Amino acid sequence: MLEVVAATVTFSAPGSPLIRAVNGVSFTVPAGMFVVMIGTNGSGKSTLLGSIAGTVRLNGGAIRLAGCDVTRWREDQRARFLGRVFQDPRAGTAANLTVLENIAVAACRGRRVGLSWATTRALQSAAAERLAAIAPGLETRLDQPIGSLSGGQRQIVTLVMATWHRPDLLLLDEHTAALDPAAADRVVQATARLVRDHNLTALMVTHSLTQAAALGDRLLLVHRGQIAFDVQGIAKRRLSVDELTERFNRLRSADQLDETAAKTLAERYV
Ligand SMILES: Nc1ncnc2c1ncn2[C@@H]1O[C@H](COP(=O)(O)OP(=O)(O)OP(=O)(O)O)[C@@H](O)[C@H]1O
Ligand SMILES: [Mg+2]
Repeated sequence: MLEVVAATVTFSAPGSPLIRAVNGVSFTVPAGMFVVMIGTNGSGKSTLLGSIAGTVRLNGGAIRLAGCDVTRWREDQRARFLGRVFQDPRAGTAANLTVLENIAVAACRGRRVGLSWATTRALQSAAAERLAAIAPGLETRLDQPIGSLSGGQRQIVTLVMATWHRPDLLLLDEHTAALDPAAADRVVQATARLVRDHNLTALMVTHSLTQAAALGDRLLLVHRGQIAFDVQGIAKRRLSVDELTERFNRLRSADQLDETAAKTLAERYV
């Protein structure tokens, strides 16, 4: 379970105006819920995920994970609650190790077992089983260097690694954005399957309105550091891509109007 309570993050740079990237955001994600987050560029999604993971400090508010107030915990201290997958398929895996060795590193993390356990038959069959469940065929690549896999296949292995010990929360920040549409689709299907099969609690950021409408139990639309739209249950299931696109475009044109107004003002008062 995740609780975000009145979270605020402000960035300041000398000579620049303050940026309130996250502006008093509150929401709770109960165990087993799959939340999809969408929002315009710069609306604060990654900052919010960073504040949950501990890479970004809150200026106000609190973060609770699995009932623990982790607001003042460092990133490495929070890691035991979290699985994370990033945009770059190379992040989080070692290119020169095989797929199995990479999975072994994830399996050994935080455990008092040596890497030699990695080569046991038990781990090998567990890894094959988990890969086959979400991407049939990928289990035949266990002995190949992970660097020889495509970006999409690598993201699927990273997903398996990030969820090996069933984290309390899986954080996905645009983990399909660097992939071509077909690979992105395969990774999204694998993600949905993994979350459902293991009843995971997940928070996934995407730029795809199609993904956002189709996936998850709940949708959060973020705009200017706040949650502008929060829908779940039947209303989420009924949400169409068209309706979502209309809401999204309304927010985006508000941003564009603001940009134009700021530019006009700047030109007028130079
Ligand atoms: N380390 C930082 N220092 C200063 N400003 C930052 C920093 N990180 C983010 N920002 C600013 O905070 C705001 C929110 O950025 P953030 O990356 O969270 O947006 P986002 O919703 O993830 O955008 P995108 O969809 O482009 O990934 C933006 O105005 C951004 O420029
Ligand atoms: Mg981002």
